Amino acid sequence: DSLTQFNTLGLKADCFRLVRARQEAELIAVCLQAFKQLEPLLLIGGGSNIVLTETFQGTAVLVETKGIEVSQDEKYYYLSVEAGEVWHDLIKFCLDNKMPGLENLALIPGSVGAAPIQNIGAYGAELAQFCNWVEYLDLASGEIKRLKGAECEFAYRESIFKNALKHSAVILRVGFVLSKAWQPNLSYGPLQALSERTQGVTPREVFDCICETRMAKLPDPAVLGNVGSFFKNPVVSQQTFDALKQQYADIVGYALEDSQVKLAAGWLIDRAGLKGQSVGNAVVHLKQALVIVNRGGCSGQDVCDLAELVIDRIFEQFGVRLEVEPRVIGATGQKELADA
Ligand code: EPU
Repeated sequence: DSLTQFNTLGLKADCFRLVRARQEAELIAVCLQAFKQLEPLLLIGGGSNIVLTETFQGTAVLVETKGIEVSQDEKYYYLSVEAGEVWHDLIKFCLDNKMPGLENLALIPGSVGAAPIQNIGAYGAELAQFCNWVEYLDLASGEIKRLKGAECEFAYRESIFKNALKHSAVILRVGFVLSKAWQPNLSYGPLQALSERTQGVTPREVFDCICETRMAKLPDPAVLGNVGSFFKNPVVSQQTFDALKQQYADIVGYALEDSQVKLAAGWLIDRAGLKGQSVGNAVVHLKQALVIVNRGGCSGQDVCDLAELVIDRIFEQFGVRLEVEPRVIGATGQKELADA
């Protein structure tokens, strides 16, 4: 079976078996069966964070379970959302039903079930702020378990699902908590123009502003294959940052706690002159250097080779090692970029 239409980079790759799971019971059954038979298992939500490098020698499961349940008390709305819901559709549903809060995360490609894995974030917000709980199938015991948001070990593009539970959890549902006392989050660059307004800002205006900003910089995967940011923004010490700043006065960094600074990887790649750099048909995007695009017919190997070239060049010039954000998938599962 072909996985080409199920990965947003549009890479040509096959798998031994493809299953579309539309019901939770199906999803559970197929995952447990593969796990018991020691068959490689690849869960695909939106396919927007994977790089397929070869034929997947196992079962690929498309998570397409749908359903949103809402409850409330005086202060909050509580949502229980099945893993296969499309992330952006959930945000639209919330706005249409007067439950704002998630709008800064609009247009992030992918599914609700994938969102906690890397704690998706953008424009001053991240999933962790709204995640009440995550329900998952524990493959080893066959039990359904629930972790509270605080137990998910959320950090910048990180969670327990990328670490301790990497091979043993299938996310089934995510619980969200949205405050009824909505406050716009206008901290991030392009949203600041809204905060200067004297009259109240509406959730819809924030949503529209985010959608416009993203569409201006980030390529639409339906037009130009990509997985969003290909690299994480690296964190360095204040000391390293100061030294870099001596040499590059306009370097972009955001101060974190503990005298650490998060560098804009896009700036580093841009400054290294790598926009438009290609390997085969994989190219560093011209409008946003953090993104690698498939200009047509590229292979997963091209993407990985280009990523390695970028990592090496950035290390040579700035002494900073970039980390890849999407998961590289080989014949039997996730692998390191260096092994691709
Ligand atoms: N920059 C450049 N050249 C570039 C790209 C960026 O100079 O080619 C500079 C920008 O001018 C800006 C800084 O780098 O000063 C940061 O750029 P931007 O605001 O576009 O955001 P980012 O750090 O590149 C991160 C997330 C995005 C998220 C945006 C907005 C990561 C890895 N990426 O990108 O997330 O949408 O912030 O919050 O944290 C994703 O994960 O797929 C993703 C798109």
